[in-house]
Amino acid sequence: MDLTGASALVTGGASGLGLATARRLAAAGAAVTIVDLPQSAGADVAAELGGSFAPADVTDPGQVAAAVETASAAGPLRVVVNCAGIAPPAKILDREGAPTPLEGFERIIRVNLIGTYNVVAQASAAMARTEPETDGGRGVIVNTASVAAFDGQIGQPAYAASKGGVHAMTLPIARELARYGIRVVTIAPGIMETPMLMGLPQAAQDSLGEQVPYPQRLGRPDEYARLVESIVDNGYLNGETIRLDGAIRMAPK
Ligand SMILES: NC(=O)c1ccc[n+]([C@@H]2O[C@H](COP(=O)([O-])OP(=O)(O)OC[C@H]3O[C@@H](n4cnc5c(N)ncnc54)[C@H](O)[C@@H]3O)[C@@H](O)[C@H]2O)c1
Repeated sequence: MDLTGASALVTGGASGLGLATARRLAAAGAAVTIVDLPQSAGADVAAELGGSFAPADVTDPGQVAAAVETASAAGPLRVVVNCAGIAPPAKILDREGAPTPLEGFERIIRVNLIGTYNVVAQASAAMARTEPETDGGRGVIVNTASVAAFDGQIGQPAYAASKGGVHAMTLPIARELARYGIRVVTIAPGIMETPMLMGLPQAAQDSLGEQVPYPQRLGRPDEYARLVESIVDNGYLNGETIRLDGAIRMAPK
């Protein structure tokens, strides 16, 4: 994959799957803009990669617009990867059988689904304004869902709904952006070895790894990044959600 001269934007690029992806895209020659929260390690990552850090909350239209502008100043924006996300669990009912506060549900939908939509909308507008490549293509947007979009566990109604939404909007957006030569593909990772998961006790991590049919371990961030690279490279992939999960199907809990 040769992205020399192209610009790439990675949300959530300061950590986990986004960080691994930013590293791969930079190694392929892209000028990488890390979009992450101001308190994240985004500035250090950008310095490591010789890229830019655009501190932004993906739910904020103004901040995302500024981040897209930063990325567009570095070259034609050809690759956008949405990795920003949160996953706090919350059941629908608490121990007393009362509904848990609606704010928790709203927050996850806002960051994971509305935040992804916001970045896709603003970045695709900038991509559509670039000169196309010789084949008419202008680039690719990769979103991150989760296997929870299909087999959500107890405690994941908000997370599963947010990721189900990311999956569901992939096709209509790919259909709409086809006229600009912009592809849209979503990855649904299984259980990946990132800070989001590494907070769990080792025994819990081992038990999760053992639930994966093969290979019987957690997924590695670089395996996600390699799939992004393949998606960028393979121009016929479009409008699809790809599971990256070692064949795991999540149990109810
Ligand atoms: N780790 C897994 O097992 C797994 C599995 C399936 C899906 N995912 C999804 O993959 C994506 C990346 O997860 P990860 O495991 O790398 O997590 P992570 O916590 O390591 O990284 C997430 C990054 O997103 C940033 N972020 C959070 N809210 C943001 C906001 N409002 N605006 C901008 N940035 C924000 C965080 O600062 C962080 O740097 C998430 O969408 C997650 O839901 C992860």
